[in-house]
Amino acid sequence: MMKKFFTVNLCIMWGILAALMLMAAMLVLHHRDIPAEVETHRRNLIGTGMTTADRIAPVAKFVMAGAAKASTEPAQASVVVQVKDRDGQQVYQASCVACHSTGIAGAPKVGDKGQWATRVAAGTEALYRNALVGTQSPTGVMPAKGGNPSLSDQEVKAAVDFIIAQNK
Ligand code: HEC
Repeated sequence: MMKKFFTVNLCIMWGILAALMLMAAMLVLHHRDIPAEVETHRRNLIGTGMTTADRIAPVAKFVMAGAAKASTEPAQASVVVQVKDRDGQQVYQASCVACHSTGIAGAPKVGDKGQWATRVAAGTEALYRNALVGTQSPTGVMPAKGGNPSLSDQEVKAAVDFIIAQNK
């Protein structure tokens, strides 16, 4: 009789112990990856697929070449800014279209072959020069580089090429 009670009690105790251990294990598993989980949830909520680190990252980084070298010479920082020339169409859309699409202020309209025929006949070099330094006639003023001095000569020439191509 005693022995049977003992066995039953032992079984119940083991059962309770096993249940407790299972709960403990689940608790640990559930909380183990919390920071990663939070990040995933946040990313899903914001919906851009970016991490916090992505969102707060600086928009640009630049490295001072040589700055990290331990030397007695003054650190030589070389900042190479590579500005890629925009192509003719992009330049035209950004800096020339205002006057040349509608023919505002006496500008020859792009696409109006008649208005360009004599100008194109003067030669591409003449068109480049007048676009670069500007030109004027009684009917209108073409500002140097279309009024955008930040354009490189190459970009202005590309825009002229684009204009010429539109009038062919
Ligand atoms: C503020 C208005 C204006 C803008 C902006 C402008 N132009 Fe002009 N452009 C003119 C006018 C006006 C003429 C005609 C000038 C004339 O009759 O002498 C002209 C003439 C020209 C000519 C013909 C020059 C010649 O020898 O007959 C070219 C080429 C030209 N523009 C290119 C450009 C390019 C490339 C841009 C953009 C980078 C540009 N223009 C932006 C007003 C403009």
